[in-house]
Amino acid sequence: LVLVVDFGAQYAQLIARRVREAQVYSEIVPSHTSVSDMLAKKPSAIILSGGPSSVYADGAPQVDPALFEAGVPVFGICYGFQAMTQALGGTVSKTGQSEYGGTELRSDAESCLLQGLPESQSVWMSHGDSVTGAPEGFTVVAHTEATPVAAFENLDRRLAGVQYHPEVAHTPHGQAVLRHFLHEIAGLKPSWNFSNIIDEQVEKIRAQVGDKRVLCALSGGVDSSVAAALVHKAVGDQLTCVFVDHGLLRQGEAEQVLGDYAQLTGIDVRGVDVSDRFLAELKGVTDPEEKRKAIGREFIRTFEQAARDIASEGEFEYLVQGTLYPDVVESGGGTGAANIKSHHNVGGLPEDMKFELVEPLRALFKDEVRSIGIELGLPEAMVWRQPFPGPGLGIRIVGEVTRERLETLRAADAIARAELRAAGLDRSVWQFPVVLLADVRSVGVQGDGRTYGHPIVLRPVSSEDAMTADWSRLPYELLAKISTRITNEVPEVNRVTLDVTSKPPGTIEWE
Ligand code: XMP
Repeated sequence: LVLVVDFGAQYAQLIARRVREAQVYSEIVPSHTSVSDMLAKKPSAIILSGGPSSVYADGAPQVDPALFEAGVPVFGICYGFQAMTQALGGTVSKTGQSEYGGTELRSDAESCLLQGLPESQSVWMSHGDSVTGAPEGFTVVAHTEATPVAAFENLDRRLAGVQYHPEVAHTPHGQAVLRHFLHEIAGLKPSWNFSNIIDEQVEKIRAQVGDKRVLCALSGGVDSSVAAALVHKAVGDQLTCVFVDHGLLRQGEAEQVLGDYAQLTGIDVRGVDVSDRFLAELKGVTDPEEKRKAIGREFIRTFEQAARDIASEGEFEYLVQGTLYPDVVESGGGTGAANIKSHHNVGGLPEDMKFELVEPLRALFKDEVRSIGIELGLPEAMVWRQPFPGPGLGIRIVGEVTRERLETLRAADAIARAELRAAGLDRSVWQFPVVLLADVRSVGVQGDGRTYGHPIVLRPVSSEDAMTADWSRLPYELLAKISTRITNEVPEVNRVTLDVTSKPPGTIEWE
């Protein structure tokens, strides 16, 4: 286990992930964790992350020098590098020369850290203070124009550090440097992989849950599906899943979850079809926020009821959640994403139900979760599903939601999805909402007659985390095909438009 000590860097999660890419397992701990608590986890190495503070600032997180006496290999990055320097008696100065962005790094000496890399390489910097004097016993192995000590190592004590960010993609040789630290300096064997994490999590879940019952709200999305599959692997029939079909799903989704998924995994999935109730609640509602509230409220009610029904067969004490690392770090995840979490979340369940959370994906990123899903044998279509909002098609119909409108949108959406997949682009597009402007009509001509139908908006976007997004430049031929098929095959639609707005200012969903 490698511990990444988080000094408040936006990069800590990325470091943990890069360590796993070097096939060593890692977890993150906050910087206020005491050295004895860190050592109690028996780490085989520790990485000190970057952070926004200056080591001179009042209240800046410090590194306890005792950390370096424990004999555990330590690697400092950016702020971690400076804090390490200070704790070990080196010098950190305000040189007045900041470096931000791509910077040329030059090697000074033969080193373990930079072995086999070019004399001069581009690295990503982001710092104000600089290390001007390495601690005693350390070899300075690289500098930049503004930073005399940009990397150092002490192989006897298995300590090293760099001023730049090796974890980001803008540092092309960064992963090599991390590997050199982990594999050569710390002497760790690259042996971790996704089946290890499955085994570890299975063990952990068994230890946590014992012989008690476990409940899971399955949305059909990749996170809850993989979490449920992991828990099922660990405790089998002790797991019961609830899948709420609110009638706002895309074509084939309920069948996929209740049919394929349940059959393939052997998980006990109880489908609750409450589409009539949802439609009744949504009658006459056109305001987006009111819609969201109505859907959220009904969702909780349904899940509550299902949970009580299941509890009547025997109390459950645990609830599975597909929480991912970015959710834990409160990267925000978009206002909407935050919303639905409260739906699926503890807050949404009756007070008299006492249970503990099981969150086997807490340390992972979405693409890592996908790899685990594949390893667990889940269908590719499920593992590679694009994110889909909890309120579903309800917030992709601008105007009142009715059964007919849902059918229209479902048909158009199915065409767009099928064509995107056929073009081999469904994995490169982050999300592809298809929106029905139910309150808008335009005049068209079809066959020999006048039509007065509704427009469909295509909203394909590229994004990394849904916080910001850009509209996807899909090939014209693909757009043409989708447009022709939708206008030909979906009677109520006589016009297809493309949304060319980035986020901000537009959000991904229209409501
Ligand atoms: P926006 O529209 O805010 O969406 O740019 C950002 C991301 O969040 C998804 N989204 C939701 N997800 N419940 C969810 O689970 C919601 O209520 C919700 N609203 C938006 C949206 O699909 C996009 O991925």
